[in-house]
Amino acid sequence: MKRTILVTGGAGFIGSNLLRLMVNKYSDYTFINLDKLTYAGNLENLKGLDSFDNYTFVKGDICDSNLLNDLFNKYSINAVMHLAAESHVDRSISNPMSFIETNIVGTVTLLNAAKYAWDGNYDDKIFYHISTDEVYGSLGETGFFTETTSYDPRSPYSASKASSDPLVRAYYHTYGMPVKLSNCSNNYGPYQFPEKLLPLMINNIKNNKELPVYGDGKYTRDWLWVDDHAEAIDVVFHKGAIGETYNIGGNNEWKNIDLVELLCDTMDQLLDREVGSSRSLIRFVKDRPGHDRRYAIDASKIKDDLGWEPKVQMQEGLLATAKWYLEQEEWMSRIVSGAYKEYYSKQYNS
Ligand code: NAD
Ligand code: TYD
Repeated sequence: MKRTILVTGGAGFIGSNLLRLMVNKYSDYTFINLDKLTYAGNLENLKGLDSFDNYTFVKGDICDSNLLNDLFNKYSINAVMHLAAESHVDRSISNPMSFIETNIVGTVTLLNAAKYAWDGNYDDKIFYHISTDEVYGSLGETGFFTETTSYDPRSPYSASKASSDPLVRAYYHTYGMPVKLSNCSNNYGPYQFPEKLLPLMINNIKNNKELPVYGDGKYTRDWLWVDDHAEAIDVVFHKGAIGETYNIGGNNEWKNIDLVELLCDTMDQLLDREVGSSRSLIRFVKDRPGHDRRYAIDASKIKDDLGWEPKVQMQEGLLATAKWYLEQEEWMSRIVSGAYKEYYSKQYNS
């Protein structure tokens, strides 16, 4: 079946990796990438895709209902992959409002535009909302998040995502819109903005800067290689049941300090530095307020129902990630200097 898919937030970390997979794999689909290009959106993440006939970039805001109505109309969009979001917990602590606007108001604006355009004709339509495991809150030493775990978000970021998820479900229950949702654990890999743990640490190690580990460093995250997430999104989009939610995870829990130490050792090797030299940069710093202690995903539903499992192991993925950032010196330096923002005006003459 031919599809025209509106991908929101496609210039971000996961969206750009997802688009690279999908645009290449599905030449009979058309992809419209709608992105506001906030500080986290970077068209340099998508270099090469512009030459594909089945890919179009549109700069714009998911809160702009007129723009959304125009796009649904102009391109006859019959599916949405919704990734656009404010996504960094620390930023949500200092500025919650933009998280409320984009993650909650933006999601409802997008739902309304789909509802208006599809006008009750939901044959072959899909609205797929990409969400996070952080909606479930914080675990103790044991246990896993399942799809039926109660929501207990504790940061403005996770609270905004936890508000958007039931709104998406409400459009399924109330209006019959064919929705799908997935809640994923921490992603890592190429093109992640260097404010998140791994790219920040890689950049600091490279530049011999201190490595700020929050609190006691024993906070635990489940890490998933970003291309494994992109493949899971592909699987849920095509095979997932309407109205269902799927948890996506890597079965790959790491305490932050253990992960940072493994990264330090990997970087020592790659940079040909004395063993232990990067570890000496580690500093325990003031904790993040409301810091969730542990996230862990039970991903058995997506495995049993849809046959998806993560493929890339941590050592392999971490080495590939570290190498990628070291090789993409220009990409990193243009982000650090802010120069990546010029790409849009050069590329699109505005
Ligand atoms: P990101 O911050 O790297 O990218 C977000 C993108 O959305 C950026 O390109 C940004 O410009 C765009 N955007 C922001 N506000 C917008 C708006 N109002 N209108 C249009 N575009 C806007 O985020 P990411 O890490 O790629 O995450 C993508 C999605 O996946 C988010 O919904 C996030 O909640 C979810 N998620 C992320 C992770 C993770 O580990 N990164 C894990 C699970 C779920
Ligand atoms: P982050 O990449 O911000 O993802 P999230 O908060 O969404 O899980 O952080 C991952 C973990 O690393 C989290 O427990 C916070 C911690 N962290 C640090 O210890 N130091 C840092 O500089 C950053 C950015 C994160």
